[in-house]
Amino acid sequence: MKIELATIQDVPELQELQHKAFGPQCIELGWEDAPPMTESLEHAYEDFAQCTTLKVLDDKGRIIGSIHGKETDGSLYMGRLMVLPEYRQQGIGKQLFKEIQRLLPHNRAWLCTCKQVPAPYEFYLREGFKPFKTEVVGPGLTWVYMEKSQISLRPFNINDAPTILSWCKDRHAFRLWSADRYKEFPAQPNDMMEQYNGDNTYPLTAVVNDIIVGHILLRYPTEDKTHIRFGFVIVDDSKRGMGYGKQMLRLAIDFAQRELGAQMVSLGVFCDNLSAIECYKSVGFRITGEDAYSIDGEDLKGFEMEMELEKI
Ligand SMILES: CC(C)(COP(=O)(O)OP(=O)(O)OC[C@H]1O[C@@H](n2cnc3c(N)ncnc32)[C@H](O)[C@@H]1OP(=O)(O)O)[C@@H](O)C(=O)NCCC(=O)NCCS
Repeated sequence: MKIELATIQDVPELQELQHKAFGPQCIELGWEDAPPMTESLEHAYEDFAQCTTLKVLDDKGRIIGSIHGKETDGSLYMGRLMVLPEYRQQGIGKQLFKEIQRLLPHNRAWLCTCKQVPAPYEFYLREGFKPFKTEVVGPGLTWVYMEKSQISLRPFNINDAPTILSWCKDRHAFRLWSADRYKEFPAQPNDMMEQYNGDNTYPLTAVVNDIIVGHILLRYPTEDKTHIRFGFVIVDDSKRGMGYGKQMLRLAIDFAQRELGAQMVSLGVFCDNLSAIECYKSVGFRITGEDAYSIDGEDLKGFEMEMELEKI
């Protein structure tokens, strides 16, 4: 068995494989006209041209498995993971899944699967993918969108501080990030440690392959253990606009919800910090109020933002 890049000549055989691999499931679900079953050959060719497709060949050169992927702005979409029914349970799907991710570098991978077909859904969960959106597509049929970030969060420590502090290049950027929490600019690593003294604070560092790319503080602002407040949100200034902020926030929301029991997260942001506001909105925060501040003799307006979470 070997994995190779598929060529345009393989498209008709890949479509045949698609019918054999998805057909029985679609019949079982009563969804005979599901997209993999009704796709035209013309569309399959168009799709092929836009993606990287891998195929698995058996000893006779017959295609027995495939997957395709497409990377856009650091996000890798993967689809059509399929293995002929008689070749399943041999690790072929897992190898295809790993190979496409190795081949197409990314900082986030995502896919869409039918929740009513448990085997692939559970496989993706085991591979560390998490649902981020669901869509009802028919009676009793739900698409689940799942993603896995290359980013992970770990506890912050003082060795991270010089890197994080170096991302605020001037006083204005520093104030947008930290408001009036620090007396001096530039701040020193020990000042940062002082901010995080005490119980009820969870400073976290976001890393990709051990490289620090972001930072966020989670804390309980009151005695209420269902409310978490985010603060000091920042992404490496050379890596902004690449989706890291959104991924870091999603992980922080997940951490707040699962590990800290949060049913609501809140934060404050200056009204002129458009990238931050857009980033917060993109993960589900909404503006709930306005505040006014006076910092370094400057009058500033801020938004209060909140997001409700389900109890877990
Ligand atoms: C706020 C910050 C963390 C965002 O991180 P980021 O990695 O640049 O953001 P992302 O690339 O993940 O973008 C997330 C979303 O915001 C949008 N966005 C980001 N910057 C934007 C801008 N300047 N204008 C419009 N939209 C913007 C993106 O399009 C994306 O939305 P989408 O997924 O719906 O397309 C980052 O800009 C930062 O570190 N700023 C300096 C520190 C700071 O001010 N922190 C805020 C303290 S309250």
